Amino acid sequence: MHRSIAEQSVEQLGGDASVLARQRRDHAELDRLMTLYESGRGPAEERRRTLRDILQLTFSHAFAEETVLWPALRRLASDGEELTARVESEHQRINDLVTELETIGPDDPRHDELTAETFALIRQDIRDEEDLLLPRLQECLDRARLRRLGSAWETVRRTAPTRPHSVVPRRPPANAVLGVPLSAVDRIRDLLPAGTRVPAGTALAVTAACLGAGWLIAHRLRKGR
Ligand SMILES: [Fe+2]
Ligand SMILES: [Fe+2]
Repeated sequence: MHRSIAEQSVEQLGGDASVLARQRRDHAELDRLMTLYESGRGPAEERRRTLRDILQLTFSHAFAEETVLWPALRRLASDGEELTARVESEHQRINDLVTELETIGPDDPRHDELTAETFALIRQDIRDEEDLLLPRLQECLDRARLRRLGSAWETVRRTAPTRPHSVVPRRPPANAVLGVPLSAVDRIRDLLPAGTRVPAGTALAVTAACLGAGWLIAHRLRKGR
C-alpha cells in the first residue's frame, strides 16, 4: 500500500529540493489561495487578483507535470499510463472550465458556479497526485533522482504557460512545441492590466521567436536529455 506524500516529513520526501516536496509546497499554496478566495474577504479587485494567481499557478504547475513528471512515471511504472491518463483528464477539464470562465464577466451569474467547480477539480487533482501518482514515483526513484526531477520540473514550471490553451495537447513533444511560444504571450499578458489584449503583431513576433525554442525543448525531451 502506498503512503500518501501528505503524511510524510520533508526528509522522507527526499529533502526540500525533491520533486515531492516541491509539489506539496505548490499544492499547499493553491489550497491557501483557494480558501482565501472562498472566504469572500477583501475588495473585489483583490479577489480578482487572488483568482488570477490561483489560475496562473495551476496552469504552470500542471504544464510542467505533463512535460516532465508524467512521461517519467509512464516510463518507470507499469500502471503509469492508467494513472497519468486520470490526471490528464482532470487537467483538461480544468482547462475547459477556465476557458469558459474567461469568456464571461465576474458579474455573470455562472461565474461563482464555474469557479467552485474549478476549485473542486483542482482539489481532486491534488488528492490524486499526493495519494496515488507521487507515491508511485517515490517507489521508483532514489533521493538523488527525486531531486534531479525536482529541478527539471521547477525549470519548466517557471517558463510554462499561465493560461488555458485549447490548442496545446496534454503530452510531449507537441505540448512543448506549442506551449513554449504561448507561454511567452501569456507572460506578456500577465504584466498588463486585466482585459488588455496583446497586439496581434507582438503576439506573432513572440510566437515566431519562441517556436524554435519549443522545438529544441521537444527534441531534447524526445532524446531524454
Ligand atoms: Fe501537482
Ligand atoms: Fe496536476
